[in-house]
Amino acid sequence: LTRYLKLVRASFQHQRFHSSASHYKGRTGAQHLWLSRHLRDSFVKAAKVESYRCRSAFKLLEVNEKHQILRPGLRVLDCGAAPGAWSQVAVQRVNSAGTDPSSPIGFVLGVDLLHIFPLEGATFLCPADVTDPRTFQRVLELLPGGRADVILSDMAPNATGIRDLDHDRLISLCLSLLDMAPDILHPGGTFLCKTWAGSQSHLLQKRLTEEFQNTRIIKPEASRKESSEVYFLATQYHRWKGSAKH
Ligand SMILES: C[S@@+](CC[C@H](N)C(=O)[O-])C[C@H]1O[C@@H](n2cnc3c(N)ncnc32)[C@H](O)[C@@H]1O
Repeated sequence: LTRYLKLVRASFQHQRFHSSASHYKGRTGAQHLWLSRHLRDSFVKAAKVESYRCRSAFKLLEVNEKHQILRPGLRVLDCGAAPGAWSQVAVQRVNSAGTDPSSPIGFVLGVDLLHIFPLEGATFLCPADVTDPRTFQRVLELLPGGRADVILSDMAPNATGIRDLDHDRLISLCLSLLDMAPDILHPGGTFLCKTWAGSQSHLLQKRLTEEFQNTRIIKPEASRKESSEVYFLATQYHRWKGSAKH
């Protein structure tokens, strides 16, 4: 995958960038800058080539290539799943569409505030707020055996532009999800969540370190360098309901 991404990037870097005037019409300077960067982005182009719904697919592919968090037969809860690129990767890797008849069949449940177009092999709960107790109930009902082996969260609240506030809101979203883990996450399970670096990250890191055997911080290559986005990957969950450590 890494070699493939490098090749994709190299080939696109040699192509001339053509911007269509209609892309830029009526936009502010900041929007113009974002759009021109987005259109030049090799991961955006690679996502189109690979039919992923957005470039974020490559972040999960990269994490999975290095840490093998997804494999056939696993049950995945994908929080903040719209438009569905992570779910696409999860469906392929856990074989939830049954594409490989010789491997165990997994399950993918995606949840988002926004509508998500259907995807073969995935079940979507949307529009739904992950922090809403009614969503929590539905998630428990929909997950086979009421448990997930892997919880993914690429959730991001609507950015206000106030860095500290956005950071605090994202950390509390991750902490709320972690509060649900004793009921949802299978012993030995995995938790991968997106955060924006900031002063409250240590709170999340402390919780993860207490509740999982291994916690690491990851900045995927596909994550824009200028973004404060970092992912926490925690594996070997040991604070499930009924455990002595609960
Ligand atoms: C960066 S996007 C996720 C992209 C996705 N991983 C993919 O690959 O297609 C972040 C998503 O988080 C969702 N989100 C934010 N807060 C949420 C919440 N409380 N409950 C559910 N979804 C939420 C947003 O609606 C948005 O679609």
